[in-house]
Amino acid sequence: MSSSRRTEAGFDAERLKALFPLLSRTEPGLHYLDNAATSHKPDAVIDAVSDCYRRHYSPVHRGLYQLAERASEHYEKARGAVADLIGAGAPECLIFTRGTTESINLVALGWARRNLAPGDQVWVTAMEHHSNYLPWQAVCRESGARLRVIECDAAGDLDLAGADGVFDQRTRLIALGHVSNVLGAVNPVQAIVERARESGIAVLVDGAQAAGHMPVDVAGLGCDFYAFSAHKMYGPSGIGALYVAADRAAELEPMLLGGGMVEEVGETESTWLPGPAKFEAGSPNLAGAAGFSAAVDFVHEHLPDSAARHAVRLAGVAAEGLRAINKVTCYGPPVETRRAGIVSFNVDGVHPHDVAQVAAEHGVAVRAGHHCCQPLMRRLGVPATVRASFAPYNTADDVDALIEAIRDAKRIFL
Ligand code: ALA
Repeated sequence: MSSSRRTEAGFDAERLKALFPLLSRTEPGLHYLDNAATSHKPDAVIDAVSDCYRRHYSPVHRGLYQLAERASEHYEKARGAVADLIGAGAPECLIFTRGTTESINLVALGWARRNLAPGDQVWVTAMEHHSNYLPWQAVCRESGARLRVIECDAAGDLDLAGADGVFDQRTRLIALGHVSNVLGAVNPVQAIVERARESGIAVLVDGAQAAGHMPVDVAGLGCDFYAFSAHKMYGPSGIGALYVAADRAAELEPMLLGGGMVEEVGETESTWLPGPAKFEAGSPNLAGAAGFSAAVDFVHEHLPDSAARHAVRLAGVAAEGLRAINKVTCYGPPVETRRAGIVSFNVDGVHPHDVAQVAAEHGVAVRAGHHCCQPLMRRLGVPATVRASFAPYNTADDVDALIEAIRDAKRIFL
């Protein structure tokens, strides 16, 4: 029995996979290892979206007839479910957005732009996704604040000791990922928030790779902002959320102005509604919210802690198998301390795109490229990596197919 046959007690990945129509019925032979880019959708989520259009669809917060009231109720119920998933406490702390990228841009444009002054500092980490990098570059350029970087090594350990001044009075914001989309490293968010809070520094967490994949408790973390997307946690694309801590809410201004967010529109001045509505200009994405809420229910019902451990374990087995192949370099935490299902690697002397192409011929879907993390690629000293990212519906067969594909890529190119 190969090492990849090890399974997580009490968890049945094949049974889970049967709930995902594309993976189990449309593409049954596909070894889908691109879950960090986007996850597949179970029937329950697809049905919730379709059911919304078939049975509940109507304008949200705009109609007085029964169907419209029902639509508004569904929308707000979804907000409650999503808020609850991350321990937000009150649904009012959760703003629906188009996704993590929009959530981070909302904080940059609606909070940082108004709160940064020349001489202030914003810190990010070297492993940030471009979406948690570019908005800070832009607001720092505009405001005269300085964008600084907490370095990390190839294992994903942050060099906080070397980040001189990160917690000092000039720092207004620390923006960091909860889980790196390249290295799979889980950052010590709680410890960073504790230090930041002592100095009144705001912390934004990019939770795109964490929410729905590990327990997230924003109240316990104590962060000010938490951004995440539905599509990476089995929900529909085009919807995400931003959690805003109650004591920061009054400091955040809307990024988009328009219908649905106003209290009173005057000739030259207007006032905004309180709560999340203030940030949700335009017609809300009701079907997206229904699907997001169904994804949350799905996580509660079908993805116990053992499911997450299964995905992490598969990634660990993959990393062990890859490391055992001569000329393969793996990045990220050591197998024993891995807590996320993401493995990035390179085959020395073979371009990652070529590796991914051979993998595709083996029916293995991996991503190759810079993964929207060019600053991290520079630190790793490579232009790109191959990335295999696991979800609980993956199985030991997927790992074996990956390892066989990489051996084949080596045979072809070296
Ligand atoms: N952020 C997504 C990824 O890491 C698209 O692949």
